[in-house]
Amino acid sequence: MALMNRVLVKVLPIFPRSFIYLFAQRYIAGETLDDAIRVSHQLNGQGMWVTMDVLGENITRLEEARAAKDACLRVLDAIDKNNVQGNISIKLTQMGLKIDKEACIDHVHEIVERARSYSNFVRIDMEDSSCTDDTIEICLRMREVYDRVGTVIQAYLKRSVDDVKELASKGVNLRICKGIYDEPPEIAYKDRNEIRENFMRLVNIMMDHRVYVAIATHDKVLIDQSYQEISRRQLKKEAYEFQMLLGVAERLRGKIVSDGHHLRVYVPFGQHWYPYSIRRMKENPQLAGYIVQNLFKRMFRRF
Ligand code: FDA
Repeated sequence: MALMNRVLVKVLPIFPRSFIYLFAQRYIAGETLDDAIRVSHQLNGQGMWVTMDVLGENITRLEEARAAKDACLRVLDAIDKNNVQGNISIKLTQMGLKIDKEACIDHVHEIVERARSYSNFVRIDMEDSSCTDDTIEICLRMREVYDRVGTVIQAYLKRSVDDVKELASKGVNLRICKGIYDEPPEIAYKDRNEIRENFMRLVNIMMDHRVYVAIATHDKVLIDQSYQEISRRQLKKEAYEFQMLLGVAERLRGKIVSDGHHLRVYVPFGQHWYPYSIRRMKENPQLAGYIVQNLFKRMFRRF
């Protein structure tokens, strides 16, 4: 069945978008900023913070990057205006990194300045390994302007221990995650346990340096190990937070909050929901099986 589901995931793109949307809904707040605000208020009401993400990738023109930057500015305005407990996550390729690096830096700078005007925080997501150096460099440059800017480090990358040591020594707030892109074995661990071990190594380096760390995972093993470190070090809850993606591991998410930890939910929204949702479904092949079952049920209902 697991193999069957993995095969189904590969053929998901042949299904109509409107049908995929029915299942994508659990991973995205909706298509508009109002949707994101509504979902964020619901999560805030359950004691969770949010980080909002305007969906959109593979841009090819600078005008698209400019539009994405403007959308991020509107998010920061809306967070302030609607009293949302939350911040923003941005992607550098969406800001034009692969088209014109200097223009990308200008866009990020504008977002960081707007965040500063609201005393808010900007997280620069980490994309595939062709972006790692630029992401770290731009994060550090932005911190010269305003120090409430952080980035993300992926536990599957072999270089990450060195990166975290360097960034932690500079006090950079980091989100630690496993990593979602398909990287070659020369630069990335492929074994699940090796990735878990490296994840905890990175979390520990952050805690050793007493730098704020965002522990972004739905993996119960890693959450339990993080709990142990927090308790062994008697860390105050202001020193770290857990993070999860919208629509994933909701029961565990509620438990983390009721255990007294801070938890932030990643809230993606926007018209470009399709590639993001397909990526999430690929992480959860069971869902693909569910989609196909439902497709057949719907088809047979017609006869
Ligand atoms: P793992 O994949 O082993 O999942 C653990 C368990 O969680 C699974 O067994 C399943 O029960 C559940 N689960 C996981 N994914 C699911 C899904 N889609 N649907 C249903 N259940 C699911 N990556 C990156 O490269 N750059 C980045 O900037 C970010 N940013 C980011 C922010 C936040 C807040 C989170 C939580 C994650 C990211 N990621 C990311 C993604 C991350 O790298 C990783 O791919 C996912 O978090 C899945 O890894 P887990 O640690 O959850 O473990």
